[in-house]
Amino acid sequence: MKKNQFNTKFGVVAATVGSAVGLGNIWRFPYEAGAHGGGAFLIVYLLFVLILGIPVICAEFLIGHSSGADVYTAFTKLNGGRLWRLVGRMGLAAALLILGFYSVVAGWTVEYIYQSVISFGGATTADELHAQFGAFSSDAVKPLWWILAFLAANYVILIRGVGKGIERMSNILMPLLFVILLVFVINSLMLPKAAEGLEFLFKPDFSAITPSVVLGALGQAFFSLSLGLGCLITYASYFRADTPLVKTATISALLDMLVAIMAGVIIFPAVFTYGQEPSAGPQLVFEVLPSIFLNMPGGIVWATLFFILLFVASLTSTLSMFEILIAYMERSLSMSRLKAVSLTLMVVIVLSTLCSLSFGKLDGIRVFGLNLFSLSDYLSSNILLPVGGILISIFAGWIVERHTVRLELLGSAPSTLLRISVRIIIFNLRYLAPIGIGLIFIFGL
Ligand code: PFF
Repeated sequence: MKKNQFNTKFGVVAATVGSAVGLGNIWRFPYEAGAHGGGAFLIVYLLFVLILGIPVICAEFLIGHSSGADVYTAFTKLNGGRLWRLVGRMGLAAALLILGFYSVVAGWTVEYIYQSVISFGGATTADELHAQFGAFSSDAVKPLWWILAFLAANYVILIRGVGKGIERMSNILMPLLFVILLVFVINSLMLPKAAEGLEFLFKPDFSAITPSVVLGALGQAFFSLSLGLGCLITYASYFRADTPLVKTATISALLDMLVAIMAGVIIFPAVFTYGQEPSAGPQLVFEVLPSIFLNMPGGIVWATLFFILLFVASLTSTLSMFEILIAYMERSLSMSRLKAVSLTLMVVIVLSTLCSLSFGKLDGIRVFGLNLFSLSDYLSSNILLPVGGILISIFAGWIVERHTVRLELLGSAPSTLLRISVRIIIFNLRYLAPIGIGLIFIFGL
């Protein structure tokens, strides 16, 4: 058994799903959908996952699996010129930017584990919960401690390496998260204004679809699938030789989509029942979930469990982001793992501190009207990831040898269905993804 390898097929899926499923589904999806018209956003997002997401996941998988390399060297190993290293550099930059703001939200989940235990300090109404979140997130010190606690957990797991740390944790906790979400879905469906919430989420108002909503939905699809920055290139380099790439890509994309829809079904009925605003922004989930728990039998216990699992879901996602940077430093810069982990962590501590303070003391620093937190999110999700997606598609569709692409995606004994799927995937990578993402990008900006 090699040290840096996922050990079982289930482990491969669980780790990939672990990377995909995280705050992107449960925190980011509901607030983006809420801010962009609900149903219209959902439909565009789903289409992007199916038409562009699955092929680009396959592209990252085949690049990582056949090169066995990190995001920086993978392209040159597969006959790309040195210019392709730029994609690698962009991926590394995106990983740092995302880690910066993601760790802040992960820190919020730790605070909310504590808040659950103390029953949200007696706050019950929407206004009280709103004030409570505002006071906490704009505090100069308190959120920083939770960010550090979260990053410390990352550190401990990362120094143990991929197989043991990441795989073991994903195997147990991902299925558990799923079960808990199911309980909350059922609870939300029984709320008085469930119908209104579901209508908001599922009934598309096509007039709400503007180019910037479409770009937002594309960014959400890429963010949620951990796509466009080489995370899945890195993970695929740890896959075993016989890992079925297309199947793994499809299962992870569908599960990821399902979790986002479940999060929407949990949040929106509650938003309408408890008189909250669907377009509240990044704080939406942290203000709505407590309302749900406070009105549920055994709510405190459920709330605690939920925020613990959300914490873990964030952890399995940040581990995969860290791994992009660490794999690069270990393999391309020949650093020791310990040194690579420590160095990356220090940079992330600085970035996340800045992002956290942008809700309070540093709120005045704005670029295009966005504070540092939202700016990191916008730059990475709506610019770096889609551009990375275009380049990765072009690379897999046009630069990697056709023979290698087919061998990687088809495996040894392909079924007819797999052959047809692979044809469609290759077509999408060569034409649809570069042109489609390119157009969305130009109009959306
Ligand atoms: N997909 C993760 C989520 O939805 O929470 C976020 C993420 C993980 C983005 C890994 C990018 C990445 F490389």
